[in-house]
Amino acid sequence: MEIHLPKHFFMGAAMSGPQTEGAYKIGGKLENIWDTWSDCSISDFYNKVGSYVGNNFYERYEEDIRLMKDLGLDSFRTSIQWSRLMDPDQKLNKEGAGFYHKVCSCAREQGIELFMNLYHFDMPSYLFRRGGWENREVVEAYVTYARTAFREFGKEICYWFTFNEPIVEPDQRYRDGIWYPFVRDAKRGMAVQYHLSLAHSLAVREFKRAKEEGYLPEDARIGLINCFAPPYTREDPSPKDLEALRMEDGIRNRWWLDLVAEGRLPEDIVKRLEADGIMPEIRPGDKEILAEGKVDWLGFNYYHPSRVQAPEKRTDENGDPKYSDPYVWPKARMNIYRGWEIYPKGVYDFGMKMREEYPDLKFFISENGMGVEHEERFRGENGEIQDDYRIEFVKEHLEWIMKAIEDGAQCMGYHYWALIDNWSWNNAFKNRYGMIEVDLAENYQRRFKKSAGWIREVINNREK
Ligand code: FCB
Repeated sequence: MEIHLPKHFFMGAAMSGPQTEGAYKIGGKLENIWDTWSDCSISDFYNKVGSYVGNNFYERYEEDIRLMKDLGLDSFRTSIQWSRLMDPDQKLNKEGAGFYHKVCSCAREQGIELFMNLYHFDMPSYLFRRGGWENREVVEAYVTYARTAFREFGKEICYWFTFNEPIVEPDQRYRDGIWYPFVRDAKRGMAVQYHLSLAHSLAVREFKRAKEEGYLPEDARIGLINCFAPPYTREDPSPKDLEALRMEDGIRNRWWLDLVAEGRLPEDIVKRLEADGIMPEIRPGDKEILAEGKVDWLGFNYYHPSRVQAPEKRTDENGDPKYSDPYVWPKARMNIYRGWEIYPKGVYDFGMKMREEYPDLKFFISENGMGVEHEERFRGENGEIQDDYRIEFVKEHLEWIMKAIEDGAQCMGYHYWALIDNWSWNNAFKNRYGMIEVDLAENYQRRFKKSAGWIREVINNREK
């Protein structure tokens, strides 16, 4: 099937500050939680490549934005690093701001629309040492940061996002103990999730104020980006499987969707968490804060579906409640390098869910991509990586997106993660996602892969 992108449909690249910039101690940049983890346990990172490097975007941003233009992309999402923009007294770091101003003017010159996110798992370490997202004071510090960013860049950036995947930090750092500081505690995880929800809502309040005060133009928009994929269960589910599905969906998706669409948390889930003794205290005034959390649109990061079934045991080894177990679908098609299931129809199902349950909320696919290990195996005689698997992956997802739009989903665009190979958390440079290769042995030199030429064609064929 030929892909005919609609005329008004963002086609762009997604990346983040901490995964691309490098320059981790330059220009007054403070240490963040990834640098702290890298310092204390470098062998946790693939090939011992810690967070310091990025893909050299700090020096190469002009080239990178030109490459985006060359491929015909119209938009680019990255993030400001809190640890670069703010000093330890929570005042603007002028040198840090200077870098982002340069990125903004370069994007403007190239006619690329910037989508700016404020937080991509990158807590400054001095705030992490004060308790990070477990401490409400840190929520206040985030709000100061957001306010500063809106005021500083309000004339240059129209599209803003408060958080990327706010579900990931409570999950990875505080519930599943996979990321530093490796906590496995449901109650602490919920405290983090709740404080992130307050932080998001307070940042939206600041956004509205900045608009009223003339720092941002009338058409500026605010959103939240999350991996909202609706979970699936067995084809012949038991009532307990369906209950597991409801809880999984409730904690990971509905929690955020109700917040950003309706300005509140899902009552059934809050009640259940309270009954299980893991819901943080909702203080007087919090409901009014959450009511401010409504956004203009959503970013939906989609790599893989989640599949769950009834848990075998009702509690885990710490005595914390367990709401579901993973379900391995026998027909799953896997990306073996990342261990993620490939299920392109998931974008369609999400679009239909939005159409039915949150019809007023527009969204775009804010991340989608395929990470592959040892891609040099696929280098052709002309030196170019022949990443046909990536072309197939993106094509299938775009086809389902087009079908979702036909069937009434309000999907406004697609951003590929990550257009240019970048540093992936503790996997570092193990799996490469880019349509543009980064040669680590040749001073981060950029080179097109086959998929770059393909996406250029797709964009060329868009409805005129
Ligand atoms: C997403 C993250 C992004 C990147 C991709 C592969 O969950 O938002 O930073 O690492 O996964």
